[in-house]
Amino acid sequence: ETGLGGMPRVLLKHKAGATAEVYNFGATLTSYKPTPEREVLFVSHKALFDGQKAIRGGVPLVFPQFGQPKKEMAQHGFARTSHWELSDTAVTEDVVRAVFHLTDTEITRMLWPFSFLLSYTLSLTAQTLTTSLRIENKGEAPFEAQALLHTYLRVRDIGQVALRGFQHHPFVDKVAAQAVERLPTETRNSVNIAQETDRVYQTGANEITLLEGGAERVKVEYTACTVNRDGSDEALPHPDCVLWNPWVQKSQAMADFGDREFQEMVCLEPGIVSAFYSLAPGQAFLLEQTIRPLG
Ligand code: BG6
Repeated sequence: ETGLGGMPRVLLKHKAGATAEVYNFGATLTSYKPTPEREVLFVSHKALFDGQKAIRGGVPLVFPQFGQPKKEMAQHGFARTSHWELSDTAVTEDVVRAVFHLTDTEITRMLWPFSFLLSYTLSLTAQTLTTSLRIENKGEAPFEAQALLHTYLRVRDIGQVALRGFQHHPFVDKVAAQAVERLPTETRNSVNIAQETDRVYQTGANEITLLEGGAERVKVEYTACTVNRDGSDEALPHPDCVLWNPWVQKSQAMADFGDREFQEMVCLEPGIVSAFYSLAPGQAFLLEQTIRPLG
């Protein structure tokens, strides 16, 4: 299958009617329809499908850095602009699955001198879509990285949106950007968006519910864990969840985003970004989200 820009993509179709679409470029999920009439994800009308720029929307994968702590590497790392290989597809009674792989190359080692295997599994059921990123250290030295599932959700009207699940959790406000001695804690049970919003919530929780006009529309459930060589795993107590909406000015500043499109989207981005996690040789890290449309 080729999609926009002649770029290869994979279509997942569940017999109950759900579909999903993933580009090999960035292993970017660009569509998830639980039913033929309903699109859950937002992709900008101005998104580029040129194999260069990360696709503006869907679920780009952020690895091995979030933002640009290392200036020699692009913002959000190279995973979202790399060409991934489809390594497996499977259809069982309940699940349609596709697995993509990305390994280090001469180019990635120039930017980040480590050996890794990324496996990204998309599992479509009749009611949900799970995306699971496994990061394995294939080298001889430990490494430190960040990773995040940059999920763009489509909404009808941002003014009607409320998010539940952030209450009581500390957050870094990237819009305010001034250093604080102690992180503020979210006091609201229901968070609305009426201005530029860019926050890294240290949730430690594992689900956020998006409501529109008071009705539950979609739930994002997420977990992170380290998997040891012997297969044992340890859940990470504090996965983060970024909440992002560019609002008016930032929208105008992005060439691949419409000026008014901030009204139709919100990003909920589970990941490990407020700290770097370290992986010993042979260890792996699993970051997983389930998108569950409601109502
Ligand atoms: C979010 C960041 O995850 O991604 C924002 O918190 C950033 O600060 C946004 O603006 C989009 O990044 P990019 O590189 O895709 O424009």
